[in-house]
Amino acid sequence: MNKLLSTLFALAVASATGFAHAQAAPAAPASAAQPAAAAAKPAAPTSPASLQAKVAMCLGCHNIVGYQASFPEVHKVPKLGGQSAGYIEAALNAYKGGERKHPTMRGIADALSDQDIKDIAVHYSKQGQGEGQAAAADKPSREPSPQVAALLQKAACASCHGANLSKPIAPNYPKIAGQHSDYLFVALKAYKTDNNAAVGRSNGVMGAIAKQFSNAELKALAQYVGSLEGDLKTVPESRFHGASH
Ligand code: HEC
Ligand code: HEC
Repeated sequence: MNKLLSTLFALAVASATGFAHAQAAPAAPASAAQPAAAAAKPAAPTSPASLQAKVAMCLGCHNIVGYQASFPEVHKVPKLGGQSAGYIEAALNAYKGGERKHPTMRGIADALSDQDIKDIAVHYSKQGQGEGQAAAADKPSREPSPQVAALLQKAACASCHGANLSKPIAPNYPKIAGQHSDYLFVALKAYKTDNNAAVGRSNGVMGAIAKQFSNAELKALAQYVGSLEGDLKTVPESRFHGASH
């Protein structure tokens, strides 16, 4: 097996583990290996009934602290707790519509109805928030190096991602402060990647921005942004917890 195939296979196994706890989700390996086959499946009957059943498909990756994915390189699975609901919804729709090419997330988003996506987005946006915890401050918890300060200024990151990169100016824009650095780096590179069937994000706004930077510069940005304190969290949740209520 070549490297791409074996990483895809590893991902398919990982997502099958996630899916094993969902009620009526389609088999993950087929959708990971062949997005076209997943698109041909009838959408309606796969839509899970309860919020718990919907979220059960996500717990195995997004609710395990430090859980790592291996495609297209090893990185931590993004934190969803405390993320803007509008952005979670936009991201899931981007996987579903193919603007985001990540094969596993495409297979998963394909199985969700518009209503599932809205419900899940609200659920994660509230996760880890409120419990006696202050919202992210307006000032970054640490100052950037002069090099990183210049990079942040060059593309005016805070003009869209907001104060402390935690208060985005539009509901469908992401909070990025405190997200995993290794994931931020993979995401930033994806906006630069064209003509690849399994990797890439065709967002016009971030594409134009990411293409102004070398990978070394994107890595420096990702390391700084990920080191900030923000709202984002991975909240451990037993996959049996929801089902017992
Ligand atoms: C097999 C592990 C796995 C499972 C299961 C999984 N995800 Fe993901 N998810 C990932 C990975 C890896 C990424 C990063 C993909 C990329 O690079 O675009 C991701 C990305 C996302 C993003 C984009 C985050 C961002 O900051 O842009 C959202 C939203 C998301 N997943 C929601 C979900 C939901 C909702 C479920 C359950 C219905 C789910 N995921 C199930 C691994 C998983
Ligand atoms: C003009 C507005 C704008 C500016 C300026 C901007 N961004 Fe973004 N950014 C966005 C939008 C909109 C998205 C969501 C794109 C999508 O849906 O994939 C995004 C997404 C991202 C993501 C992906 C987050 C995730 O969870 O996957 C990262 C990382 C990011 N931006 C970092 C930056 C950095 C670093 C800068 C400055 C160098 C910057 N952005 C400047 C609007 C902007």
